[in-house]
Amino acid sequence: MKLIINDREYEVSDENPHRVLLWVLRDELGLAGTRFGCGVGMCGACTVHVNGVATRACLAPLSQLADARIRTVEGLARPGPDGRPRLHPVQRAFLDVQVPQCGWCMSGQMMTATALLERNPTPTPEQVVEAMDRNYCRCGTYTRIKKAVLAAADLLARETEP
Ligand code: FES
Ligand code: FES
Repeated sequence: MKLIINDREYEVSDENPHRVLLWVLRDELGLAGTRFGCGVGMCGACTVHVNGVATRACLAPLSQLADARIRTVEGLARPGPDGRPRLHPVQRAFLDVQVPQCGWCMSGQMMTATALLERNPTPTPEQVVEAMDRNYCRCGTYTRIKKAVLAAADLLARETEP
């Protein structure tokens, strides 16, 4: 079957349609930025976008992904003014605020944050906390995550100004 990931087509075996996206990304396609945390939908480390919606890859069977547009952390960077890839404002804000500790949860955090800002570009601090609430960080970086998501919203607003 065909998967569309980060605007690129991948051919993967559909022998077992119950296989979940997480293992296809990590073990077959080498897109290991998507992390394995709990494997049961609890931690959010495996969050990717499926048709723009933050989705847990450990719970997403291939059978539900035909024709879906999937985005992983590897697909967040965009072409900059010089045409070369530039980190997404969410990635830059997470670096500026120095959010990561061990880093394990970070791709899932950034994918959830990106999905939030795509549906609500000007979230309140409370809305950020609510949206990020189901992404766990065992290093406890929650205060900086909130600060970085709000900083990313500012960056996005500045970059989309006419
Ligand atoms: S690994 Fe998917 S939610 Fe934890
Ligand atoms: S930075 Fe270590 S789990 Fe979040």
